[in-house]
Amino acid sequence: MLKLIIHPNPILRTKSQKVTDVLDSKIQKLIPEMLETMKDSNGVGLAAPQIGQNIRLLVIGHKDKDLVIINPKIIKKSLLKDWDEEGCLSIPHKYGQVKRHKSVTIKYLNEGGQEQTIKANGLLARIIQHEIDHLDGILFIDKVKDLADIEY
Ligand code: CO
Repeated sequence: MLKLIIHPNPILRTKSQKVTDVLDSKIQKLIPEMLETMKDSNGVGLAAPQIGQNIRLLVIGHKDKDLVIINPKIIKKSLLKDWDEEGCLSIPHKYGQVKRHKSVTIKYLNEGGQEQTIKANGLLARIIQHEIDHLDGILFIDKVKDLADIEY
C-alpha cells in the first residue's frame, strides 16, 4: 500500500501536471498500486497528489467497477447542484456537506491511453468532482458546510 499524504501538506495544495505518456512504465505501475491503496483504505476515490504525485491521474471504485481517469476535463455540467456528505482519505475523521453539480460529462484517457467520454450522475458525479478538485489543489474542506469531527 502506498503512503497517504495527509492534510496539511503542500503536495495537496499544488496544481498537478498532465500525464504526458500514459503507457510509461512508472504510470502503469502506479495505477494498480493506487487502486489497491484506495481499496485498502476503504475509499471510493483516490487522486495522485494523495499518494505524493502531482500528476493528473485518479482512480475511482464505484459499483464494483474500477475507473482509471487520466487528464480529465469536465466538458459539461448540470445547472442543478446537490448537497451531500463528503469525507477524504487525506483528511481523516472529518465529514461535511458539499454542494456539487448533479451531473457532469468528462473526457479523459483510460489506462490504455484511449480517449473516453462519460456522463456521470449522483454519487459518481460527486466523486469525480471531488477527485478532479484534488488535481487542482482544492480540498472538500474549502467548500464544506458544517464540518464535523467523527470519532471512531
Ligand atoms: Co479526497
